[in-house]
Amino acid sequence: MRVLVTGGAGFIGSHVVDALVERGHEPVVLDLRADPARDVRDADTVARALAGIDAVCHQAARVGLGDGVRDAAGYAGHNGLGTAVLVAAMAEQGVRRLVLAGSMVVYGEGRYTCGRHGVVRPGPRAAAALDAGRFEPVCPACGAELEPGLVAEDAPADPRNVYAATKLAQEHLAAAWARATGGTALSLRYHNVYGPRMPRDTPYAGVASFFRSALARGEAPQVFEDGRQRRDFVHVRDIATANVAALEAGAEPGALTAYNAGSGTPHTVGELAAALAAACGGPEPVVTGAYRLGDVRHITADSARLRADLGWKPETGFAEGTREFAAAGATG
Ligand SMILES: NC(=O)c1ccc[n+]([C@@H]2O[C@H](COP(=O)([O-])OP(=O)(O)OC[C@H]3O[C@@H](n4cnc5c(N)ncnc54)[C@H](O)[C@@H]3O)[C@@H](O)[C@H]2O)c1
Ligand SMILES: [Zn+2]
Repeated sequence: MRVLVTGGAGFIGSHVVDALVERGHEPVVLDLRADPARDVRDADTVARALAGIDAVCHQAARVGLGDGVRDAAGYAGHNGLGTAVLVAAMAEQGVRRLVLAGSMVVYGEGRYTCGRHGVVRPGPRAAAALDAGRFEPVCPACGAELEPGLVAEDAPADPRNVYAATKLAQEHLAAAWARATGGTALSLRYHNVYGPRMPRDTPYAGVASFFRSALARGEAPQVFEDGRQRRDFVHVRDIATANVAALEAGAEPGALTAYNAGSGTPHTVGELAAALAAACGGPEPVVTGAYRLGDVRHITADSARLRADLGWKPETGFAEGTREFAAAGATG
Protein backbone atom coordinates (compact mmCIF):
# COMPACT_ATOMS: atom_id res chain seq x y z
CA MET A 1 0.00 0.00 0.00
CA ARG A 2 1.10 3.55 -0.70
CA VAL A 3 0.31 5.38 2.54
CA LEU A 4 0.34 9.14 3.13
CA VAL A 5 1.64 9.67 6.67
CA THR A 6 0.80 13.19 7.81
CA GLY A 7 3.04 14.24 10.67
CA GLY A 8 5.45 11.54 9.46
CA ALA A 9 8.49 13.54 10.61
CA GLY A 10 7.20 13.64 14.18
CA PHE A 11 7.72 11.34 17.16
CA ILE A 12 5.01 8.77 16.46
CA GLY A 13 4.73 9.39 12.71
CA SER A 14 8.41 8.59 12.15
CA HIS A 15 7.95 5.22 13.84
CA VAL A 16 4.84 4.59 11.72
CA VAL A 17 6.98 5.25 8.64
CA ASP A 18 9.56 2.71 9.86
CA ALA A 19 6.88 0.11 10.63
CA LEU A 20 5.27 0.57 7.21
CA VAL A 21 8.60 0.04 5.43
CA GLU A 22 9.21 -3.05 7.53
CA ARG A 23 5.87 -4.49 6.33
CA GLY A 24 6.67 -3.75 2.69
CA HIS A 25 4.42 -0.70 2.33
CA GLU A 26 5.38 2.61 0.75
CA PRO A 27 5.05 5.61 3.10
CA VAL A 28 4.88 9.17 1.79
CA VAL A 29 5.44 11.87 4.43
CA LEU A 30 3.48 15.11 4.64
CA ASP A 31 4.89 17.20 7.49
CA LEU A 32 5.72 20.87 7.81
CA ARG A 33 8.61 20.22 10.22
CA ALA A 34 11.33 20.27 7.57
CA ASP A 35 9.41 22.15 4.90
CA PRO A 36 6.71 24.66 5.96
CA ALA A 37 5.07 24.22 2.55
CA ARG A 38 4.15 20.61 3.45
CA ASP A 39 1.17 21.76 5.51
CA VAL A 40 -1.94 19.65 5.89
CA ARG A 41 -4.00 22.87 6.16
CA ASP A 42 -3.13 23.77 2.57
CA ALA A 43 -5.65 22.27 0.13
CA ASP A 44 -3.38 22.35 -2.95
CA THR A 45 -0.52 20.70 -1.09
CA VAL A 46 -2.80 17.96 0.21
CA ALA A 47 -4.38 17.40 -3.21
CA ARG A 48 -0.92 16.89 -4.74
CA ALA A 49 0.24 14.67 -1.88
CA LEU A 50 -2.77 12.35 -2.31
CA ALA A 51 -1.92 11.42 -5.91
CA GLY A 52 -1.55 7.63 -6.14
CA ILE A 53 -2.26 7.14 -2.40
CA ASP A 54 -4.23 4.09 -1.16
CA ALA A 55 -4.64 5.08 2.50
CA VAL A 56 -3.94 7.96 4.84
CA CYS A 57 -2.42 7.68 8.30
CA HIS A 58 -3.16 11.06 9.90
CA GLN A 59 -0.68 11.87 12.67
CA ALA A 60 -0.16 15.59 12.06
CA ALA A 61 -1.41 17.69 14.95
CA ARG A 62 -0.45 20.30 17.46
CA VAL A 63 -0.04 18.17 20.58
CA GLY A 64 0.02 18.43 24.36
CA LEU A 65 -1.52 20.91 26.78
CA GLY A 66 0.81 23.64 25.48
CA ASP A 67 -0.35 27.16 26.22
CA GLY A 68 -3.89 25.94 26.48
CA VAL A 69 -6.66 28.32 25.66
CA ARG A 70 -4.36 31.15 24.55
CA ASP A 71 -3.34 28.93 21.65
CA ALA A 72 -6.89 27.75 20.88
CA ALA A 73 -6.68 29.05 17.31
CA GLY A 74 -3.41 27.16 16.73
CA TYR A 75 -4.91 23.88 17.96
CA ALA A 76 -8.12 24.39 16.00
CA GLY A 77 -6.12 25.28 12.88
CA HIS A 78 -3.61 22.41 12.83
CA ASN A 79 -5.97 19.79 14.21
CA GLY A 80 -9.48 20.82 13.14
CA LEU A 81 -8.90 22.71 9.90
CA GLY A 82 -6.03 20.36 8.96
CA THR A 83 -8.30 17.32 9.25
CA ALA A 84 -11.12 19.09 7.41
CA VAL A 85 -8.85 19.94 4.47
CA LEU A 86 -7.53 16.38 4.43
CA VAL A 87 -10.91 14.60 4.39
CA ALA A 88 -12.29 17.02 1.80
CA ALA A 89 -9.36 16.21 -0.50
CA MET A 90 -9.73 12.47 0.16
CA ALA A 91 -13.42 12.68 -0.78
CA GLU A 92 -12.50 14.56 -3.94
CA GLN A 93 -9.83 12.06 -4.99
CA GLY A 94 -11.56 8.85 -3.90
CA VAL A 95 -9.11 7.78 -1.20
CA ARG A 96 -11.27 5.56 1.00
CA ARG A 97 -9.13 4.49 3.94
CA LEU A 98 -8.19 6.65 6.91
CA VAL A 99 -6.42 5.86 10.16
CA LEU A 100 -6.46 8.71 12.65
CA ALA A 101 -4.19 9.38 15.61
CA GLY A 102 -6.89 9.69 18.24
CA SER A 103 -6.32 10.29 21.92
CA MET A 104 -7.52 9.15 25.29
CA VAL A 105 -8.03 12.83 26.11
CA VAL A 106 -11.48 12.59 24.49
CA TYR A 107 -12.70 10.75 27.62
CA GLY A 108 -11.81 13.37 30.20
CA GLU A 109 -11.67 11.65 33.59
CA GLY A 110 -11.43 7.88 33.32
CA ARG A 111 -13.91 5.32 34.51
CA TYR A 112 -14.90 5.30 38.19
CA THR A 113 -17.25 3.30 40.35
CA CYS A 114 -18.87 4.34 43.60
CA GLY A 115 -19.72 1.62 46.13
CA ARG A 116 -23.29 2.93 46.28
CA HIS A 117 -23.89 4.50 42.86
CA GLY A 118 -22.05 2.20 40.49
CA VAL A 119 -20.32 3.76 37.45
CA VAL A 120 -20.27 7.56 37.86
CA ARG A 121 -18.76 10.48 35.95
CA PRO A 122 -17.00 12.92 38.25
CA GLY A 123 -16.75 16.47 36.88
CA PRO A 124 -13.56 18.53 36.66
CA ARG A 125 -11.73 18.80 39.97
CA ALA A 126 -12.08 22.11 41.78
CA ALA A 127 -8.99 24.27 42.34
CA ALA A 128 -9.88 24.49 46.06
CA ALA A 129 -9.81 20.70 46.43
CA LEU A 130 -6.52 20.43 44.54
CA ASP A 131 -4.99 23.26 46.64
CA ALA A 132 -5.95 21.30 49.73
CA GLY A 133 -4.21 18.19 48.36
CA ARG A 134 -7.48 16.37 47.65
CA PHE A 135 -6.54 14.95 44.27
CA GLU A 136 -8.98 12.04 44.01
CA PRO A 137 -12.27 12.89 42.32
CA VAL A 138 -15.28 11.98 44.46
CA CYS A 139 -18.72 10.61 43.67
CA PRO A 140 -20.89 13.44 42.28
CA ALA A 141 -23.92 11.92 44.07
CA CYS A 142 -22.59 11.15 47.56
CA GLY A 143 -19.04 12.53 47.79
CA ALA A 144 -17.58 9.10 48.55
CA GLU A 145 -14.17 7.94 47.34
CA LEU A 146 -14.21 6.18 43.99
CA GLU A 147 -12.52 3.14 42.52
CA PRO A 148 -10.74 3.91 39.19
CA GLY A 149 -11.17 1.37 36.38
CA LEU A 150 -10.34 0.86 32.70
CA VAL A 151 -12.13 3.06 30.21
CA ALA A 152 -13.70 1.37 27.17
CA GLU A 153 -14.41 2.90 23.77
CA ASP A 154 -18.11 3.42 24.47
CA ALA A 155 -17.38 5.77 27.38
CA PRO A 156 -18.97 9.16 26.70
CA ALA A 157 -16.74 11.87 25.27
CA ASP A 158 -15.84 14.57 27.78
CA PRO A 159 -12.95 16.70 26.46
CA ARG A 160 -11.54 18.90 29.24
CA ASN A 161 -9.20 21.28 27.40
CA VAL A 162 -8.61 22.87 24.01
CA TYR A 163 -6.34 20.10 22.75
CA ALA A 164 -8.88 17.45 23.77
CA ALA A 165 -11.70 19.36 22.08
CA THR A 166 -9.75 19.42 18.80
CA LYS A 167 -8.85 15.71 19.02
CA LEU A 168 -12.55 14.94 19.39
CA ALA A 169 -13.36 17.26 16.47
CA GLN A 170 -10.91 15.26 14.32
CA GLU A 171 -12.88 12.08 15.06
CA HIS A 172 -16.19 13.74 14.23
CA LEU A 173 -14.79 15.04 10.93
CA ALA A 174 -13.42 11.58 10.08
CA ALA A 175 -16.79 10.01 10.91
CA ALA A 176 -18.62 12.56 8.74
CA TRP A 177 -16.21 11.84 5.88
CA ALA A 178 -16.75 8.07 6.24
CA ARG A 179 -20.54 8.45 6.20
CA ALA A 180 -20.48 10.70 3.17
CA THR A 181 -18.04 8.61 1.12
CA GLY A 182 -18.49 5.03 2.38
CA GLY A 183 -14.85 5.11 3.39
CA THR A 184 -13.42 3.33 6.42
CA ALA A 185 -12.08 5.36 9.32
CA LEU A 186 -10.31 3.97 12.36
CA SER A 187 -9.28 6.13 15.27
CA LEU A 188 -6.58 4.76 17.53
CA ARG A 189 -7.02 6.54 20.84
CA TYR A 190 -3.45 6.50 22.04
CA HIS A 191 -2.77 6.59 25.75
CA ASN A 192 0.57 7.95 27.01
CA VAL A 193 3.06 7.16 24.27
CA TYR A 194 6.77 7.21 25.12
CA GLY A 195 10.01 5.99 23.59
CA PRO A 196 12.83 7.00 21.24
CA ARG A 197 12.51 10.38 19.44
CA MET A 198 10.01 11.66 21.99
CA PRO A 199 9.86 15.48 21.82
CA ARG A 200 11.87 17.11 24.59
CA ASP A 201 12.10 20.51 26.24
CA THR A 202 8.96 21.89 24.62
CA PRO A 203 5.62 22.69 26.25
CA TYR A 204 4.22 19.87 24.11
CA ALA A 205 6.47 17.11 25.46
CA GLY A 206 5.02 14.24 27.49
CA VAL A 207 5.72 13.47 31.12
CA ALA A 208 8.34 10.75 30.43
CA SER A 209 10.32 13.31 28.44
CA PHE A 210 10.13 15.94 31.21
CA PHE A 211 11.38 13.40 33.74
CA ARG A 212 14.25 12.24 31.54
CA SER A 213 15.34 15.79 30.74
CA ALA A 214 15.47 16.60 34.47
CA LEU A 215 17.54 13.48 35.10
CA ALA A 216 19.89 14.39 32.24
CA ARG A 217 20.53 17.71 34.04
CA GLY A 218 21.25 15.78 37.25
CA GLU A 219 18.00 16.99 38.81
CA ALA A 220 15.24 15.01 40.50
CA PRO A 221 12.09 14.50 38.40
CA GLN A 222 9.30 16.75 39.76
CA VAL A 223 6.11 14.72 40.12
CA PHE A 224 2.78 16.60 40.16
CA GLU A 225 -0.03 15.94 42.67
CA ASP A 226 0.86 12.99 44.93
CA GLY A 227 2.34 10.87 42.15
CA ARG A 228 -0.43 8.29 42.40
CA GLN A 229 -2.29 9.37 39.26
CA ARG A 230 -2.64 6.36 36.97
CA ARG A 231 -1.86 6.26 33.26
CA ASP A 232 -1.28 3.67 30.57
CA PHE A 233 2.24 4.17 29.23
CA VAL A 234 2.53 2.51 25.84
CA HIS A 235 5.71 2.19 23.80
CA VAL A 236 5.92 4.09 20.53
CA ARG A 237 6.96 0.99 18.53
CA ASP A 238 3.75 -0.70 19.67
CA ILE A 239 1.71 2.32 18.60
CA ALA A 240 3.43 2.15 15.20
CA THR A 241 2.51 -1.52 14.70
CA ALA A 242 -1.07 -0.72 15.81
CA ASN A 243 -1.23 1.86 13.02
CA VAL A 244 0.00 -0.64 10.43
CA ALA A 245 -2.53 -3.22 11.68
CA ALA A 246 -5.30 -0.60 11.42
CA LEU A 247 -4.24 0.35 7.88
CA GLU A 248 -4.28 -3.30 6.83
CA ALA A 249 -7.51 -4.22 8.64
CA GLY A 250 -10.94 -4.48 7.19
CA ALA A 251 -13.32 -2.13 8.98
CA GLU A 252 -16.94 -1.14 8.74
CA PRO A 253 -17.41 1.13 5.71
CA GLY A 254 -19.24 4.39 6.23
CA ALA A 255 -18.38 4.72 9.90
CA LEU A 256 -15.59 5.56 12.30
CA THR A 257 -14.43 2.73 14.54
CA ALA A 258 -12.54 3.82 17.65
CA TYR A 259 -9.97 1.74 19.47
CA ASN A 260 -8.14 2.39 22.70
CA ALA A 261 -4.44 1.91 22.07
CA GLY A 262 -2.70 1.26 25.36
CA SER A 263 -0.48 -1.36 26.96
CA GLY A 264 -3.37 -2.59 29.11
CA THR A 265 -1.17 -2.33 32.23
CA PRO A 266 -1.68 0.86 34.25
CA HIS A 267 1.16 2.50 36.14
CA THR A 268 1.29 5.62 38.26
CA VAL A 269 3.19 8.73 37.21
CA GLY A 270 5.25 8.28 40.38
CA GLU A 271 6.21 4.78 39.25
CA LEU A 272 7.31 6.14 35.90
CA ALA A 273 9.50 8.77 37.57
CA ALA A 274 11.01 6.16 39.90
CA ALA A 275 11.71 3.70 37.06
CA LEU A 276 13.45 6.38 34.98
CA ALA A 277 15.41 7.72 37.97
CA ALA A 278 16.59 4.20 38.85
CA ALA A 279 17.56 3.42 35.26
CA CYS A 280 19.53 6.69 35.01
CA GLY A 281 21.11 6.26 38.44
CA GLY A 282 19.73 9.74 39.14
CA PRO A 283 18.17 11.40 42.20
CA GLU A 284 14.90 10.05 43.58
CA PRO A 285 11.79 11.79 42.26
CA VAL A 286 10.29 14.64 44.31
CA VAL A 287 6.53 14.68 44.74
CA THR A 288 5.57 18.36 44.64
CA GLY A 289 1.80 18.51 45.18
CA ALA A 290 1.64 21.02 42.33
CA TYR A 291 -1.04 20.48 39.73
CA ARG A 292 -2.26 21.67 36.33
CA LEU A 293 -5.92 22.51 35.99
CA GLY A 294 -7.22 20.49 33.06
CA ASP A 295 -5.20 17.40 33.94
CA VAL A 296 -7.31 14.39 34.77
CA ARG A 297 -6.58 12.18 37.75
CA HIS A 298 -6.64 8.66 36.33
CA ILE A 299 -7.10 7.53 32.76
CA THR A 300 -6.29 3.97 31.85
CA ALA A 301 -7.35 1.98 28.85
CA ASP A 302 -9.11 -1.22 28.13
CA SER A 303 -7.40 -2.08 24.83
CA ALA A 304 -9.06 -5.50 24.47
CA ARG A 305 -11.01 -4.46 21.37
CA LEU A 306 -7.85 -3.52 19.49
CA ARG A 307 -6.28 -6.85 20.38
CA ALA A 308 -9.38 -8.84 19.43
CA ASP A 309 -10.32 -7.06 16.19
CA LEU A 310 -6.89 -6.32 14.75
CA GLY A 311 -4.84 -9.15 16.26
CA TRP A 312 -2.41 -6.56 17.64
CA LYS A 313 -0.51 -6.88 20.86
CA PRO A 314 2.09 -4.70 22.54
CA GLU A 315 5.60 -6.17 22.57
CA THR A 316 7.54 -3.74 24.80
CA GLY A 317 6.65 -3.85 28.50
CA PHE A 318 7.04 -1.03 31.05
CA ALA A 319 10.28 -2.26 32.67
CA GLU A 320 12.06 -2.88 29.37
CA GLY A 321 10.66 0.23 27.67
CA THR A 322 11.53 2.64 30.47
CA ARG A 323 15.06 1.18 30.79
CA GLU A 324 15.66 1.62 27.08
CA PHE A 325 14.20 5.14 27.13
CA ALA A 326 16.35 6.19 30.06
CA ALA A 327 19.47 4.67 28.52
CA ALA A 328 18.92 6.58 25.27
CA GLY A 329 19.39 9.71 27.43
CA ALA A 330 20.37 12.79 25.54
CA THR A 331 20.48 11.12 22.15
CA GLY A 332 17.19 9.27 21.76
N1 LIG B 1 2.50 11.43 22.20
C1 LIG B 1 1.39 10.99 22.79
O1 LIG B 1 1.42 10.49 23.93
C2 LIG B 1 0.06 11.08 22.08
C3 LIG B 1 -1.09 10.64 22.77
C4 LIG B 1 -2.31 10.70 22.13
C5 LIG B 1 -2.40 11.15 20.82
N2 LIG B 1 -1.29 11.58 20.17
C6 LIG B 1 -1.43 12.04 18.77
O2 LIG B 1 -0.43 11.43 17.97
C7 LIG B 1 -0.13 12.26 16.86
C8 LIG B 1 1.38 12.42 16.74
O3 LIG B 1 1.86 13.10 17.89
P1 LIG B 1 3.38 13.06 18.35
O4 LIG B 1 3.37 12.76 19.80
O5 LIG B 1 4.17 12.22 17.43
O6 LIG B 1 3.76 14.62 18.22
P2 LIG B 1 4.87 15.34 17.29
O7 LIG B 1 4.73 16.79 17.56
O8 LIG B 1 6.21 14.72 17.46
O9 LIG B 1 4.38 15.01 15.82
C9 LIG B 1 3.41 15.75 15.16
C10 LIG B 1 3.95 16.07 13.78
O10 LIG B 1 2.92 16.72 13.04
C11 LIG B 1 3.50 17.76 12.30
N3 LIG B 1 2.45 18.75 12.05
C12 LIG B 1 1.77 19.50 12.95
N4 LIG B 1 0.90 20.31 12.35
C13 LIG B 1 1.03 20.07 11.01
C14 LIG B 1 0.40 20.60 9.85
N5 LIG B 1 -0.53 21.55 9.94
N6 LIG B 1 0.78 20.11 8.64
C15 LIG B 1 1.74 19.16 8.54
N7 LIG B 1 2.37 18.63 9.59
C16 LIG B 1 2.03 19.08 10.82
C17 LIG B 1 4.60 18.31 13.18
O11 LIG B 1 5.57 19.00 12.39
C18 LIG B 1 5.15 17.04 13.81
O12 LIG B 1 6.23 16.51 13.08
C19 LIG B 1 -0.89 13.56 17.10
O13 LIG B 1 -2.06 13.53 16.31
C20 LIG B 1 -1.24 13.52 18.57
O14 LIG B 1 -2.43 14.25 18.86
C21 LIG B 1 -0.05 11.56 20.77
ZN1 LIG C 1 -21.80 7.67 45.33
